[in-house]
Amino acid sequence: MADGSTNETTGEREWVTPPPSFVDAANVTAADSEAFLDAGWPACWKRAAELLDWHRTFDSVLDDEETVRWYPGGRLNASYNCLDRHLDERGDEPAVTWEGKLGETRTYSYRELFDEVNAFAAALRDLGVGEGDVVTLYMPMVPELPVAMLACARIGAPHSVVFAGFSADALATRLAGANSECLVTCDGYYRRGDALDLESTADNARLSVDHAVEQVVVERLGDDRSFDDDHVYADLVDEHAGTEVDPVERDAGDLLFLIYTSGTTGEPTLVRHETGGYLAYVTWTSHAVLDLGPGDTHWCSADVGWITGHSYAVYGPLALGATTVLYEGTPDHPQKDRLWKIIERNEVDVFYTAPTSIRAFRKWGEEHLERHDLSSLRLLGTVGEPIDETTWHWYREHVGGGECPVVDTWWQTETGGIVLSTLPGVDRMRPGAVGRCLPGLEAAVVDDAGERVPVGEPGRLVLTRPWPGMARSLCEATDWGDHRTTTVDSAERSRGDSESSPPSGVDVSRDTGDRSSGRDPREDGEWRYDTGDNAVRDADGYLRLLGRADDVLNVSGHRLSTTEIEFAIVGVDGVAEAAVVGGKDAVTGARVHAFVSLESNVAGDEALRERVRAAVESGIGPIAVPDVVTFAPSLPKTRSGKVVRRYLEAIANGEDLGDTSALRNPEVVGELTSLLDR
Ligand code: WTA
Repeated sequence: MADGSTNETTGEREWVTPPPSFVDAANVTAADSEAFLDAGWPACWKRAAELLDWHRTFDSVLDDEETVRWYPGGRLNASYNCLDRHLDERGDEPAVTWEGKLGETRTYSYRELFDEVNAFAAALRDLGVGEGDVVTLYMPMVPELPVAMLACARIGAPHSVVFAGFSADALATRLAGANSECLVTCDGYYRRGDALDLESTADNARLSVDHAVEQVVVERLGDDRSFDDDHVYADLVDEHAGTEVDPVERDAGDLLFLIYTSGTTGEPTLVRHETGGYLAYVTWTSHAVLDLGPGDTHWCSADVGWITGHSYAVYGPLALGATTVLYEGTPDHPQKDRLWKIIERNEVDVFYTAPTSIRAFRKWGEEHLERHDLSSLRLLGTVGEPIDETTWHWYREHVGGGECPVVDTWWQTETGGIVLSTLPGVDRMRPGAVGRCLPGLEAAVVDDAGERVPVGEPGRLVLTRPWPGMARSLCEATDWGDHRTTTVDSAERSRGDSESSPPSGVDVSRDTGDRSSGRDPREDGEWRYDTGDNAVRDADGYLRLLGRADDVLNVSGHRLSTTEIEFAIVGVDGVAEAAVVGGKDAVTGARVHAFVSLESNVAGDEALRERVRAAVESGIGPIAVPDVVTFAPSLPKTRSGKVVRRYLEAIANGEDLGDTSALRNPEVVGELTSLLDR
């Protein structure tokens, strides 16, 4: 393999090693990672905060006496960190480079971005927005979205970005929930070549909110409509051109933004992120995992409306002085090579996307990539769902030229930034496994009673130490002080046990392959955050994610993870995607029902169905073999690209589907229902 990458396969346990050329130049090397840990916990997190400029240095790294407070006493401004501090050294370098649906491009240097953010910040102030007032941003992928986010951050007004695909009702709920009196939106945007109206949706939402909402409209379509009482973004920026607004010094614990989780099950919940901890954490993880720095061009393909876009398309890369790419359109418009063209033209160094997209690229075929020079790519990342081995290898081979390290990154809206991954300059990669906790974090896999399960046994993934990117609710909800006393008992029990026999649990220590960071959490009792995901840890401490805890089937008393079965199916030639759900069965408890979508030009026939069954039988065992295999045109997904299994479950069981408007592709639900009726 080129560039020294090795691929040792020992039975099921395969390692892939990043090429030495990458390791040698990586931001975080093995020595850096050791030094980070040697600082002890929580002092190691000073390192993350040192990547930022503080107006007032924090008194301590962590105050955990009552609630969890990161960097107490510290004062800073996020917009200052993303803009002002770069002006002297790289004012003329590109900060944001944007490509619109119709092929138009716009690039903002750090200086230009600074100017526009200042002008818009001044305008927001004139509209009466003060420190602490929530501004709602209901905008598609236009450069004015990061401008507005940074303008809010500049004046200390938390932003609440609402994904542009949401309905008027969804927007109204979010405006009311945040008591937000200022809304920035667009006249409309383009999707697959069609112009969609956003402003009338925003108008409808405002009508159903009790309080008055001031509205600013960015003209994206420029279709000569009149704006009545609304303010036009370009006019505001013109009026305030040249004005500089002093960045408001914020306490580390002051809110930077609100965001609602995308939610594959149930209602979305409101998550709040604080200025100091969040910014330090996304900057550190962008540096350590995404290996970004000045001069790098980074493309995180997630919509800025989701947490991934907040953390890794806006705050992380800009705080580090890198260039961030924003793209308004869809990957297959006008042709299926659109993304590869963008990577080639912008000489993208780091590309970060979701497994659902990678599976689509694979389905479309390699010919779309082969026409483009992707040799600028140095590192690839994935986030959002587990990535199966076949898709992982395809990504590395066809997008990464067989050389780029691939970092699978597990995290959540609540965690603010990446929690589990490999450090590309330090760790080997194991396709299909996400990796370990980043240094300074700790995780455990536990059973229903909260006890650690042995290596190789699935259980619930819990995080057992606070980290700077954690959402405010996690800081508040868990009384760390109480936890100390309530868990001392179990801590003592485990210590007692360990005298006679070593603890069998998958604990967090270097011996089990995890990166322990000094203090044994059991000495003080244990803080815990239940992630709601299931995982299994191997003997090397690498975790495989098994999906949300709800995505578990119980067949004849065996608990089967839908993700594991899906991974086995996606390994079959010709299969693009799979989702497995439980059909009700009076005898076995659940039937295994697999919905399988195929690569283009592959026929869904009986022979393929058999290959799917055989793959599950050999990969997991006869108990998990799907009773029903339905070839599906596509799978129902949320707007952020996660498969929504509960609709498939309802379809499999002939149940009422309820409201499907939250789906990106609601039509597929009807198609699948009629497919099963036949
Ligand atoms: C899932 C997105 C497996 C997981 C950043 C988590 C993943 C939920 C991965 C959070 C991954 C995210 N491997 N599963 N690498 N990354 N997930 O809040 O179930 O939109 O709990 O945050 O996505 O989704 P959210």
